Amino acid sequence: MTTYTSVTVTHRGGLDAVAVLDRPLRDPEPGEARIRVITAPVCQDDVAIRIGNRPFLRKPPFVPGYAFIGVVDAVGEGVTDVSVGDRVTALTQFDSHAEVIYRPQGELAPVPDELDPVRAAPLVLNYLVAQQVLHRVAHVERGQSVLVIGASGGVGTAFLDLARLAGLRAYGTASPRKHPVVAGYGATPIDYRSGDLVAAVRRHEPDGVDLVVNGMGPEYLSDGLAALRRGGRLVAYGAPQGLGALAVLIGRLVATNVTPNGKRIIGYGTHREGVTSFKEDWATLFELLGRRQIEPLVAGTYPLRRARDAYARLESGSVAGTLVLTVP
Ligand SMILES: NC(=O)c1ccc[n+]([C@@H]2O[C@H](COP(=O)([O-])OP(=O)(O)OC[C@H]3O[C@@H](n4cnc5c(N)ncnc54)[C@H](OP(=O)(O)O)[C@@H]3O)[C@@H](O)[C@H]2O)c1
Repeated sequence: MTTYTSVTVTHRGGLDAVAVLDRPLRDPEPGEARIRVITAPVCQDDVAIRIGNRPFLRKPPFVPGYAFIGVVDAVGEGVTDVSVGDRVTALTQFDSHAEVIYRPQGELAPVPDELDPVRAAPLVLNYLVAQQVLHRVAHVERGQSVLVIGASGGVGTAFLDLARLAGLRAYGTASPRKHPVVAGYGATPIDYRSGDLVAAVRRHEPDGVDLVVNGMGPEYLSDGLAALRRGGRLVAYGAPQGLGALAVLIGRLVATNVTPNGKRIIGYGTHREGVTSFKEDWATLFELLGRRQIEPLVAGTYPLRRARDAYARLESGSVAGTLVLTVP
């Protein structure tokens, strides 16, 4: 029997719950493509769903992996959108940390062959989130200001990169050792661990910023709102760590949005905009990468079989940018 390798979360828990298992290779079903994965980014949710840090959780065993870039290897009956040999991507939420993935043709989007699949990997989830929040949710305009909470991480650096491209003045919270990364994207780093975050922002922006993007929990909502100008918006895209955090977010959202100071909280999740918007935004992002107008920060690459080491590094909090798994 032919098999392929997949990372598998065997039970809820720590790194001991991460196994590398062989699975039987099957033919794709009607309407489905079988794809050989080339690269897959590692993101905070890959870790959180194993640990149990999310309100709604799939039961193990499962294959983690939110996104991939790969090559179509076989297609099922009725597949006309993609052909064998096409380089494609998709947002999957699960299953991408494997040598092979099966996906319905409608979810797949083309990836230009000339792009380096390692450098393109952060675009599929992290840059997509930043692009959608800046341009589809917040509708930013050149000359505006943005505070990025969690700026040194995978999504945070994507925000800084795209904010720079959009002509925004950006401020980013990060621990001091990661300040050079924030400054490297032309943003002003802010040490959120020591000192007053709101005062630090208002020293530069006395009236407050136009936009706050919060990838962290609801504990940053108060500071985020205080850093906003009247009429500004806070987009909360960080996945809540549990039902309690979700309830706090919803409560603050409702209370803020009915308060007559014009400040608004908007929740963002990738489910919000849908697959048609993903395809449009990936096309834009791949073009920007091809023209070297964006600079994704790849913090390191790991062969798929060493996914556990990549998760450990992300969990250690030492990563700036995005880790990428590669399939030899
Ligand atoms: N809504 C969506 O569709 C969507 C999609 C992707 C990701 N997300 C969410 O986005 C968030 C970030 O994901 P990511 O993959 O970019 O994570 P990441 O790469 O691990 O980056 C997070 C960064 O935040 C900082 N941080 C950690 N704990 C913090 C705290 N308590 N307070 C302030 N900053 C802290 C750390 O940097 P420093 O060491 O510099 O502090 C870390 O590098 C996660 O909550 C994830 O669930 C949401």
